[in-house]
Amino acid sequence: MAPFLLAAAAAGVLFSALAQGYANPEPCKGTSCGDGHDPALARLSDGTYVRFSTGGGGRIYNAPSLSGPWTYKCDMLPSGSRISSSGSKDLWAPDVSLVGSTYYVYYSVSDFGTQVSEIGLATSKTLECGTFTDHGSTGVSSVAGKSYNAIDPNLILVDGEYKLSFGSFWGDLFQVPMKTPPTAASGAAVALAFEPKTTHAEEGSFMILRNGYYYLFYSHGQCCGLDTSTPAAGDEYMIRVCRSLSATGPFIDEDSVSCQNGGGTIVLQSHGDVYAPGGQSVYLDPVEGSWVIIYHYFSRKKGVADADSLYSWNRLNWSNGWPSV
Ligand SMILES: *[C@@H]1O[C@H](CO)[C@@H](O)[C@H](O)[C@H]1NC(C)=O
Repeated sequence: MAPFLLAAAAAGVLFSALAQGYANPEPCKGTSCGDGHDPALARLSDGTYVRFSTGGGGRIYNAPSLSGPWTYKCDMLPSGSRISSSGSKDLWAPDVSLVGSTYYVYYSVSDFGTQVSEIGLATSKTLECGTFTDHGSTGVSSVAGKSYNAIDPNLILVDGEYKLSFGSFWGDLFQVPMKTPPTAASGAAVALAFEPKTTHAEEGSFMILRNGYYYLFYSHGQCCGLDTSTPAAGDEYMIRVCRSLSATGPFIDEDSVSCQNGGGTIVLQSHGDVYAPGGQSVYLDPVEGSWVIIYHYFSRKKGVADADSLYSWNRLNWSNGWPSV
């Protein structure tokens, strides 16, 4: 990297740290604070936290608290998904929800940079190792030429109907209504958010309902390969949010810019030693008594290769009706 780019990158970091004053990632304890891509969380009735992340048959970690100590337990589907694909043993971006008395874990099967993708489903009553039934594809899928790339699923219950948000690059973020129970789509996809600029780098959506608003969190920018193809400062992963009174939109940001036209308020971006936070999910945590955001990031000191990703979390502050860290 040329010296002037390094200086610009350093100045960018300083500016955002001063302007935003982001909280540092909460400390993480245990042997499994790394390998943190795209975390999703469930909390069992005994208080155990179960964290899923990208890779293999879907990584599963357990901990007694959000900060750990985290222990790797197993892969959700040790021999991969039954979906026939070169990506079937490398499941991405799991999403976990309790549907009735059964946990539904959606996952993505794809290959980097292609639109040939499917969203699969596994279920379990307990989230214990060896208890997952793979149902294969939900039918939410994409091929070259579609307006979306069917990865990064997230389920939400809206007025008694399940909806699945998904999408990554191309036409960005979409949502389909789901059957009950939510094993397959029941209707056509609607568009939620779009970044018109350059590569349309939005993905990893996660929707919550709070005080009458649907908040659409997502990751913006380049997630991966940050050591080998370093993006310009500000083009790396960051977490943004939009909101709407309806789960299907229209979504706007804090400055009332349409999220179908590049809007999106920054929730968390690179600051200090923290680089490229993203892959987030958001929960109302009963222990904290507040909304928390869990995410992965890189430590500039420890390294920014894909294998260096770290898990952490922060409390969300909603003082002006918009989430901040
Ligand atoms: C939330 O943010 C507001 C505005 O920046 C600040 O005044 C308040 O102290 C914050 N609350 C907490 C709990 O950090």
